[in-house]
Amino acid sequence: MFNALEYIGFTSPRAGEWNEYGPEVLGLQVAPDEGDGVVRLRMDDSAYRISVEEGTVDNLDHLGWSVGGPREFEAAIAELESKGISVVRESAELAAKRCVADLASFTDPFGWRQELHWGLALRQGTFQPGRPMSGFVTAEQGVGHVALAVPDLAIAEAFYVDLLGFRLSDEIRAMGQAIRFYHCNSRHHSLALVPIPGMTGVAHLMLEARSLDDVGTALDAAQRRGDLLVSLGRHCNDHMVSFYTDTPSGVQIEYGWGAIESDPTTKANMIDRGDIWGHHPTGDAWPAPGILRPVDTEEMHA
Ligand SMILES: [Fe+2]
Repeated sequence: MFNALEYIGFTSPRAGEWNEYGPEVLGLQVAPDEGDGVVRLRMDDSAYRISVEEGTVDNLDHLGWSVGGPREFEAAIAELESKGISVVRESAELAAKRCVADLASFTDPFGWRQELHWGLALRQGTFQPGRPMSGFVTAEQGVGHVALAVPDLAIAEAFYVDLLGFRLSDEIRAMGQAIRFYHCNSRHHSLALVPIPGMTGVAHLMLEARSLDDVGTALDAAQRRGDLLVSLGRHCNDHMVSFYTDTPSGVQIEYGWGAIESDPTTKANMIDRGDIWGHHPTGDAWPAPGILRPVDTEEMHA
């Protein structure tokens, strides 16, 4: 149904710190201040890709999924409603705040707000990274991928696979966990689902740089700040060379390079280890998902 995860929004009491963190560690450009308490961060010529709004708690606020244009927007709303999803057509004011042409929203079974849109504003030739770097892999692949912790994989797949049409890229079974990875375009995965009984949350957001040197430079910056959570390593499934860093707002960033693309003709693989090399936690244990809250699945099964 969707073309890509185009943008993602968080809330945080420390939103303002992203004005420094985004450029210095991640190489993102801070978009001009609109005076609305939202820090918008750019990765390419799109108006922005990541927003952090001042709020009382650290949280994932919304995921911004695109469709091809106005006709596809209407078709997607009709399809969602025909499947029993309650869709809200959002105001022109909120669409303008998100820098999109048209906006609608609905929620997943765990309460995560999904935003459907077309026409994320493009400002050609205006992207300047926050520090010297070669830029990010975006375009038709969107902002990157998001890993969500979900209390029940069957409920999650009924929504994301059966209703929204995400396709399984592969499953990693390692360290007593089975994590599934899903694509909606040529990015190996735009969505990962991490089953954690009784909990939901956002484990991390992945950004893909255009060169390995960009990853090394970001790694140095994260280490200088004491923010490094997981060392450099290469995942078995998407072959991403990446590290994981903390942020001012609880959500973790996976910062990587070199992923393979999804192949719609390929069957889903089961892979029985997580990493080819590296990805060692810097603390005592693999860090818990950045923003987690309990969720009751009893009603969902009823
Ligand atoms: Fe990831």
